[in-house]
Amino acid sequence: LVSKNVRLDYDKLASRYDAHRRGGGPYLDRLVELARESRTERALELGAGTGNNSGPFAERIPCPLVGLEPSAGMLDKARAKQLPVGWVRAMAEQLPLASASVDFIFGCYFIHHVEDLNALFGECRRVLRRGCAAFVTAPIEFIENHPMNAYFPSFAMVDKARFQSAEAIANAMTRAGFVRTGAEVHSAEPRPIDQTYAERVEGKFISTYALIPEEEFEAGLKRLYADLEPAGQLDVPMIWEALIVWGWVD
Ligand SMILES: C[S@@+](CC[C@H](N)C(=O)[O-])C[C@H]1O[C@@H](n2cnc3c(N)ncnc32)[C@H](O)[C@@H]1O
Repeated sequence: LVSKNVRLDYDKLASRYDAHRRGGGPYLDRLVELARESRTERALELGAGTGNNSGPFAERIPCPLVGLEPSAGMLDKARAKQLPVGWVRAMAEQLPLASASVDFIFGCYFIHHVEDLNALFGECRRVLRRGCAAFVTAPIEFIENHPMNAYFPSFAMVDKARFQSAEAIANAMTRAGFVRTGAEVHSAEPRPIDQTYAERVEGKFISTYALIPEEEFEAGLKRLYADLEPAGQLDVPMIWEALIVWGWVD
């Protein structure tokens, strides 16, 4: 059922992940708009993790929501939140859902784990009866310009090896039969890179840090804390940018 990669990463990371990562983000309003345009009566979230985005989505689109997640550890955390979500343990490339059974699909920060986009979008196309599928991920430019590159030299290399470009995602959607694909970058308000931010890095709130060699991680973290000492924050802010890519069923 579960690939080695998922078991290794997320069962082990579940507690730490949930303690340091919140739901919602600069993409949520756009996802909600797309769900409304889809006249959503039944929604599916892929790679839902600990349910961090399932709750905020369900609050604004009150319809049955299926949350799909392959990691048992992440699912345990999600279930404990008692959200109005029907949880399913499965991989997105093999959806245990009937054809034409949902009218909106979304996934936040999960698509970079999927090696076979053709299989993923083939399944998405199959289970959608109308509406659209929309995926939130990190734009390549955001990865390249991320302030943490100054502390962790392999940061961009690690993520550029995993995160697909907007074009690659949109092209795969088109191959699977989606039409009117679109892509937009949405940015959050600038926030200080301060002690709180450093503590989230220390908690490895994004899986990038779990993939950076431990020695490099320790050294970078030490430098980050040291640079925060004089002013309590870095002189560059954090501006979170999220890429949303979507495609419609004709
Ligand atoms: C970075 S987490 C994001 C979780 C959640 N969407 C969020 O935004 O907090 C990525 C999630 O994708 C899941 N995942 C990885 N490969 C997957 C696959 N092939 N199908 C479905 N989920 C997958 C992982 O188990 C993990 O929970």
